[in-house]
Amino acid sequence: MAEINNSSLSSELRVPEHIAIIMDGNGRWAKRSGQPRIAGHKEGMNNVKRIATAASHMGVKVLSLYAFSTENWSRPSKEVSFLMRLPVDFFGTFMPDLIKENIKVLVTGFTDHLPEKTKKVVFKAMDDTKDNTGMILNFAFNYGGRAEIVNAAKNLAKEAVNGSISPDDIDDKLFADQLLTSPLGSLADPDLLIRTSGEERISNFLLWQLAYTEMVFDKTYWPDFTKDNLIEDIKLFNDRDRRFGAI
Ligand code: FPP
Repeated sequence: MAEINNSSLSSELRVPEHIAIIMDGNGRWAKRSGQPRIAGHKEGMNNVKRIATAASHMGVKVLSLYAFSTENWSRPSKEVSFLMRLPVDFFGTFMPDLIKENIKVLVTGFTDHLPEKTKKVVFKAMDDTKDNTGMILNFAFNYGGRAEIVNAAKNLAKEAVNGSISPDDIDDKLFADQLLTSPLGSLADPDLLIRTSGEERISNFLLWQLAYTEMVFDKTYWPDFTKDNLIEDIKLFNDRDRRFGAI
């Protein structure tokens, strides 16, 4: 784990290699100031750039952000359309900064089911940053943990039926290789999960990968979540005793 010395910190802090964030509270943030929900998503998108930059400077290796779940399609169609346009806006605006920061973009989710324009920009963002060697900014977009596990089980069942594997070959490693996070290799499992806005649930995010992840539920709405909030949450992580089932 990287160690950071930051002016906001009283002592050295171990930085988790993989931080995952459920960016919740955009709608409530907007409502609080009498604005439509989409204003909250827009400010939430701007905050992605701020927090991604901060995390990259701290030495985080993977930042996974839950941007759109497989359940979010059931929101009003205007909100869904707005959320589908966010990657177009985000990569259109911030790509030069991502390149400058040496950030590599990854999108994990059922990308085949995205609208064409959204699909095109996310694949272009991955391609434009594929040679970057810094932090991986992993957007979970049209992602659902149960669907991911079902998909992995189906793939393995097909391989067993066609004889390329035996059912007894299936273990944690073979299973994880079939998950959408497999491009992250040994960094696929988050060390720390943060959910903003005070809600305390997982909401179908990274169900397999969160097996031994430390969780912090932060009351701040996502658009208000700052680098200092991130540092506070990393401090809480530092206070935890991770035993991975051992004693
Ligand atoms: C949950 O808040 C948030 C979302 C469903 C969308 C999150 C998306 C972003 C922060 C922007 C992502 C950026 C890119 C580039 C894809 P909510 O709407 O459920 O808030 P509420 O619980 O207060 O109503």
